[in-house]
Amino acid sequence: MSHDLFEAAKAAMAKAYAPYSKFPVGAALRTEDGRVFAGANIEVASYPEGWCAETTALGHYIMGGGGKITEIAVIAERMAKCSPCGGCRQRLAEFFRPETKLYLCDNGGVVETVTMGDMLPYGFRGDILK
Ligand code: THU
Repeated sequence: MSHDLFEAAKAAMAKAYAPYSKFPVGAALRTEDGRVFAGANIEVASYPEGWCAETTALGHYIMGGGGKITEIAVIAERMAKCSPCGGCRQRLAEFFRPETKLYLCDNGGVVETVTMGDMLPYGFRGDILK
């Protein structure tokens, strides 16, 4: 992975709005034509209404025109290898292929590389709904 994806995730994490959990998270994904979309978690006083960094990044990605995603980096300053939650795995799987790489990071860089297929085996597929 180019270091810039990690840096984009880290820069996004710095913009997190996480006054309740104090657990900032950043995510950055890259499309095959080189565009990078990043996001941070955003919390609200009614706790269940907040959302994750990965979801913010996906919103930017769709608003930026979408396209084929090749890789994503996730970072949380208080946890090495912060792994996307179950809901985000399902959201990511909507746009990712099983071989799309996920880089789990700490504050220094990538700690572990996994694939979307590793993260959500036997996930629900919506193909029949299209
Ligand atoms: N969070 C993320 O943004 N991404 C993850 O992969 C796991 C959890 C956020 C949600 C909430 O704002 C905070 O981390 C604590 O759960």
